[in-house]
Amino acid sequence: MKLWGGRFSEGQSQLLEKFNNSLPFDYRLWEEDIEGSIAHGTMLSQKGILTEAEGKELVSALKEIKNEILTGKREFDFSVEDIHTQIEIWLIEKCGDLGKKLHTARSRNDQVATDLRLYTKKSLKQTIKLLLELIETLALLGKDHSNTLVPGYTHLQKAQPISYGHQLLAYAQMFLRDLDRFEEAYKRCDVLPLGSGALAGTPYKIDRELTRELLQFRAISQNSLDGVSDRDFVLDYLYACSLTMVHLSRLAEELIIYSSFEFGFVEISDSYSTGSSIMPQKKNPDVPELIRGKTGRVCGNLLGFLMTLKGLPLAYNKDMQEDKEAFFDAVDTTQICLEIITPLLKTMTVNKEKMARSAETGYLNATDLADFLVLRGVPFRSAHRIVGEVVRLGIDLSTEITDIPLGKLQEISPLIDEEILQKLDAKSCLERRNIIGGAAPNQVEDASMAILKTLEAKKTIWLDSK
Ligand code: ARG
Repeated sequence: MKLWGGRFSEGQSQLLEKFNNSLPFDYRLWEEDIEGSIAHGTMLSQKGILTEAEGKELVSALKEIKNEILTGKREFDFSVEDIHTQIEIWLIEKCGDLGKKLHTARSRNDQVATDLRLYTKKSLKQTIKLLLELIETLALLGKDHSNTLVPGYTHLQKAQPISYGHQLLAYAQMFLRDLDRFEEAYKRCDVLPLGSGALAGTPYKIDRELTRELLQFRAISQNSLDGVSDRDFVLDYLYACSLTMVHLSRLAEELIIYSSFEFGFVEISDSYSTGSSIMPQKKNPDVPELIRGKTGRVCGNLLGFLMTLKGLPLAYNKDMQEDKEAFFDAVDTTQICLEIITPLLKTMTVNKEKMARSAETGYLNATDLADFLVLRGVPFRSAHRIVGEVVRLGIDLSTEITDIPLGKLQEISPLIDEEILQKLDAKSCLERRNIIGGAAPNQVEDASMAILKTLEAKKTIWLDSK
């Protein structure tokens, strides 16, 4: 059965059905479709468009269908066009002609937009919860590692000593911004399009405010054409997912590098590692690699759907059905990546000794030496040149700055002395970065506390909501 066909004299080709039908993927909206229908039916009966008895019967039939799906008594018939048709077929099966009345003052265009917004709100909450757990894990680990020395890199070349905690908190900041984006996406998604009809609104005296209240939306859409053709909320979500994945991918890339034999800074636990079918010694970082790889898919979904929308005239066009696969795939992928990275981080071993040893070699204290010369009155640019010569001498002698004989250092600059050299160890360099946002351990601890405090506030908003 179809929801249309009166004006057609020939049947539909099977190939067209296969091409056109969205039930194979939009069945995921079944709960939202029923929820929206219950609200719509309730409103129709309260407004006298249906009788009270009709409203009650429709609502209880819809609730029955919900239970039957939940208990496995009803299975989707994938030859049906879409989820809206499927639910309506079942409703008509149960209520006969009354089932055919539910679509009064409604179109599939405002129905699908409503369903998808309801679904988006639900999955945004899930994504936000996963993100909160990840940020909390990073904040706690960041605090634990506020004194764990590690080389900081630029261009993947050793640059200055930092702590691993400072590095982890950099990711916490990225994910906090992602959280902001998901929250914004939620706010913009929280607008009810039902009542827009096919495109122009409806002549029935419906009560959109009542439907809004029943479905718990923040606001009602203000233009019926926009109501049915707006998919910005999908793009908002896809963009937030894409950037979250880019952040996860950068973290993943570092974990891959840091867990390599050459670095050996971290070891991913066995439970989140894989082996090789041929090389018995291998322990592979498949999880971060897959995260890095899946980032391409999610970003592709964003770009793909942006392209789908770019040339569409108002209002609804069937192209928009393409929103769902891109959306479901991006959300599923982002959620599983967020879900798996958190326990991976919690269970991984951090090789503090190896990190610290690495932070002591490779002239990471060169900038600090220049800064000490600046304190003794040397202009920074001149100090930079002097220390460059010191480093070149160190390379020639295969030694660190502090192991070069003082006499030789003083030939380059008489201002260099024992007092300065004693302050060039990595720990001292780290502790001196004692400004807001700096790498000093106390700053990292404060930053961690601030993040945890922010999270507490966010948790009361998002964890309590169903
Ligand atoms: N399956 C369709 C979609 O996802 C539902 C809306 C159909 N509307 C229509 N006018 N054909 O977009």
